[in-house]
Amino acid sequence: MAVLNFKGKTFVQNHHLAVKYHQLVPQKDKSLTDKVSLNDNLIIHGDNLKALKALLPTYAGKIKCIYIDPPYNTGNENWVYNDNVNSPMMQEWLGKVVDKEDFTRHDKWLCMMMPRLKLLRELLREDGVIFVSIDDNEQHRFRILMDEVFGEENFIANIIWQKKYSPQNDANYFSDMHDFIVVYAKKRNDGLEKGGWVRNLIPRTEEQNARYKNPDNDPRGLWKSADLSVKTYSEEYDYPITTQSGRVVNPPKGRSWMTSEDNFNKLRSDNRIWFGKTGDNVPSLKIFLSEVQEGVVPLTLWLRTEVGDNESAKKEIKEIFSEIQLPFDTPKPTSLIKRILQISTEKDSIILDSFAGSGTTANAVLELNTEEGNRKFILVECEDYADESILEGDKLPGYLELARYIFYTATGEEFDPEKVDEKRNFIGESKEYEVYLFYKPDIEYLRTTALTLDRAKNLGEYKNKKRLVFAPSKYLDHDYLLEYRIDYCQLPFEIYKLKS
Ligand SMILES: C[S@@+](CC[C@H](N)C(=O)[O-])C[C@H]1O[C@@H](n2cnc3c(N)ncnc32)[C@H](O)[C@@H]1O
Repeated sequence: MAVLNFKGKTFVQNHHLAVKYHQLVPQKDKSLTDKVSLNDNLIIHGDNLKALKALLPTYAGKIKCIYIDPPYNTGNENWVYNDNVNSPMMQEWLGKVVDKEDFTRHDKWLCMMMPRLKLLRELLREDGVIFVSIDDNEQHRFRILMDEVFGEENFIANIIWQKKYSPQNDANYFSDMHDFIVVYAKKRNDGLEKGGWVRNLIPRTEEQNARYKNPDNDPRGLWKSADLSVKTYSEEYDYPITTQSGRVVNPPKGRSWMTSEDNFNKLRSDNRIWFGKTGDNVPSLKIFLSEVQEGVVPLTLWLRTEVGDNESAKKEIKEIFSEIQLPFDTPKPTSLIKRILQISTEKDSIILDSFAGSGTTANAVLELNTEEGNRKFILVECEDYADESILEGDKLPGYLELARYIFYTATGEEFDPEKVDEKRNFIGESKEYEVYLFYKPDIEYLRTTALTLDRAKNLGEYKNKKRLVFAPSKYLDHDYLLEYRIDYCQLPFEIYKLKS
């Protein structure tokens, strides 16, 4: 597979693994419910790289649909590369606005996106899907990056969205009328194997239904006529048909009828062939509204008349928050995101948007829920307009919170808070291990607590599974660790650093 090389790639390829742990602290005073919980709609205020990492223990493999609308890298967006990657070249990049004069702007953008995409992929369910808004500044590079992170076999579509109505008559070359929405499944499902993303049909509109009429008062109800001839030529399907008026017609030149003569005669006797009101027209096939699918197959071309445009999105925002000053000029209309959710989600799905802006995705989720369902959203936004629930990095995490993170990261298996017994320092069992955590959110405890022989003995009887023990330090030599079947892990260093 062809891959894209860019400056900094070697440093960011595994950066998502090195991102420090930050705790998500729900803020009761900013919440709309009394029971503040991570398992609810969430608005996270902070950098999305840290936030996505912090979401992993609770949400890995649980998100059905991701929509993101990252900076397009137009050179006018004032975005800054801010990831603390361990490379002197990239440290040089920090804090500087990425503008048109910056010769490394594409490298920086790709370095920003790669670790985020890797975390987003981990958060998706096996039958999940990601939709990404993008334009020609990065679309071609982005597709190659996505091929690398999601696998080129999981590419679904590159949708064209008509983002505006009025042409820009002073454009140097062309008036740019559309954006792209690039779609990748976590795993494509082409009907051959189980699992993977299956798209929904989109509901039929009244306009589409209005095309069905009933000029011959057919008791089967409304119908519309479809061309009986097809492009692919076959001699067997090329035969003369006598109309009701007695005229003989053949398929148009180079084409044949869509069905065999026998089958045509059956359709005719079943009153499924229409020769027009006079009975003299070229035959067409009657398609009944009652027979067509529940909805329509989505197209790769989305018109503003169906899903809105940038202007309608700006109007929506003004109606909701008259005062807000957004640092970007391109909010997305709710109906656009609603279309995405119709195609990709079910009634109880969780939807994530980690470049949330004005929160259109939340609005679309809530709107769709009013029709049916109880979908949940998670938004991440670094600007102050996301000030709902703050991602705090300067507090020591609580026992359960750290247990959740440690258990998931060490075993890759689901954490069950019910299994935690803090008195025994026990946080759960994976296929291979019993997992123990010696921890308190107290700097003195962390300085003075180690895995000692007494603590090793007190872990309890050995029950055929190795013991994975996390503690701030250990005073136990290798032989004892073997004797008590212990794999020791030091608590993540960042926990101490957060406090200092
Ligand atoms: C183009 S806007 C998204 C617009 C959004 N779709 C809407 O309809 O309002 C991109 C947003 O991503 C946010 N953003 C950029 N980098 C981010 C980061 N590293 N972490 C969190 N948010 C980020 C920006 O502040 C901006 O609000």
